[in-house]
Amino acid sequence: MPPAAITCRDITKRFDRTLALDRVGFSVHAGEVHALCGENGAGKSTLARVIAGVLRPDSGQLLLDGAPVEIAHPARARALGIGIVFQELDLFNGLSIAENMALGHPEAERLFVNRRKLADWSRPFLRRVGLQTDPGAPLGAQTIATAQLVAIARALALRARFLLLDEPTSALTEEAADRLLNLVAELRQAGAGIVYVTHKMREIFRVADRVTVLRDGAHVSTKAARDTSIDETIALMVGRAIDTTARIDTAPRADIALTVKNLSTRRLKNINATVRRGEVVGVAGLVGSGRSALGQALFGMEPWTAGRATLAGQPYRPRSPDEAILAGCAYLPEDRRGQGLFLQTSVRHNASAAILCRLRRGPFVRRWQETKLVRDELAKTRAKIPALSAPVSALSGGNQQKVLLAKWLLTRPALLYLDDPTRGVDIGAKADVYKIIAALSAGGTAILLASSEMPELLRLSHRIMVLHEGRVTGVLAAATATQEQIMSLATGMTQPPPPIKP
Ligand SMILES: Nc1ncnc2c1ncn2[C@@H]1O[C@H](COP(=O)(O)OP(=O)(O)OP(=O)(O)O)[C@@H](O)[C@H]1O
Ligand SMILES: [Mg+2]
Repeated sequence: MPPAAITCRDITKRFDRTLALDRVGFSVHAGEVHALCGENGAGKSTLARVIAGVLRPDSGQLLLDGAPVEIAHPARARALGIGIVFQELDLFNGLSIAENMALGHPEAERLFVNRRKLADWSRPFLRRVGLQTDPGAPLGAQTIATAQLVAIARALALRARFLLLDEPTSALTEEAADRLLNLVAELRQAGAGIVYVTHKMREIFRVADRVTVLRDGAHVSTKAARDTSIDETIALMVGRAIDTTARIDTAPRADIALTVKNLSTRRLKNINATVRRGEVVGVAGLVGSGRSALGQALFGMEPWTAGRATLAGQPYRPRSPDEAILAGCAYLPEDRRGQGLFLQTSVRHNASAAILCRLRRGPFVRRWQETKLVRDELAKTRAKIPALSAPVSALSGGNQQKVLLAKWLLTRPALLYLDDPTRGVDIGAKADVYKIIAALSAGGTAILLASSEMPELLRLSHRIMVLHEGRVTGVLAAATATQEQIMSLATGMTQPPPPIKP
């Protein structure tokens, strides 16, 4: 066998109280896809960032083709042929798609002055990831799925020998994810070595040659994919049994929480919907179908051009998120960094941000009460948090998501809009989120659950509303719906079936 191409030996990395990597050994060689798995906070992103020169390890050694190397900064990694797509995208909203791709690229950067040349340069890479978008369009105007594909196209443009993909499909639909998996297989064929970080077992077993499991910063196992299984991998990751088949089993209540009549916005056309108390209505649709637009409209983030609604029996037409919160609506956004979290501030501050008005007595915030509420809510989500005073930016991706969920649960909303709540959340935590949804439903909360994972929608919803280009193309009973039905409604291929009673 040729020398393994990138080798990590005894890599240790500590952040204050957290031992993120504990003498980890790992390698990836040319022509293989090596999946890296583990629960939220296991150390996957930290290891990827060490290899990409973003973080310096406290101790241990990196070898490239058998020889020790120092990778002191990202530019050095790029020069060595190592590309990375970060879990939390590092793109600039103020720049165009092509400019984002060219930034830091050894040859393309000088094309900056010539828009047309820059666009021509970027186009083939964008095509490869399946994007037809104009390269000159500002990144800030794109969906998070598009941004994720742009980040991948940027890595491709480096023609890296090694590619580190940290949850590259977390914001993608299954269709786009499938295309990416094919691309990964092509790159392997062409001789690239790929580190693939994901929580999606299906993806691992489709593309990976080897599977490494980390737990709490330690290396647990490395196996050939053909010698292991999904169940074994999960067991190694979590060290406990996980029920991945739980379904929602309580019936919705009789009273209606939300009605929406003929709601239109810039991106939505004539939406009609009803959600009962305790009912989970899944919202399916391709990227750009209006899934997020609906959440944003209901949460007062996007002006309504027409339509009426009631929430908990009161007329409802929020003109701002503050009004929405007051009326009992909560919204967990898809883009947690852009819209959800204040990264530099503490976990405590983030989690209590939506209930501060309730915690105030005069000019003072009742700290002890804040601490207790936040701590209890975070415990329910089983978030792994070093301290409530830690900045949110120091948490792993999945734990950031749990802080955001806790923030909205603390408002005890009558209506909760969850926009892809398990994005980037590990398999154990996913089961936790499912349990939380079930408990909220049993407690009478009305829930709209947008997700790009159809099995998730089918299991957790009572009914599923399918959107296509801003319109409702069908509402299905989840118990009898199939993925194919949802897909054909989502792509606008079928005539809508007769509406079913809520
Ligand atoms: N900049 C930082 N400062 C402090 N602690 C950090 C920092 N980055 C990571 N950590 C901690 O190191 C541990 C490993 O984090 P890492 O992001 O590598 O996890 P992960 O396996 O990628 O998880 P996820 O699946 O949630 O993305 C976590 O406990 C995290 O809180
Ligand atoms: Mg991570």
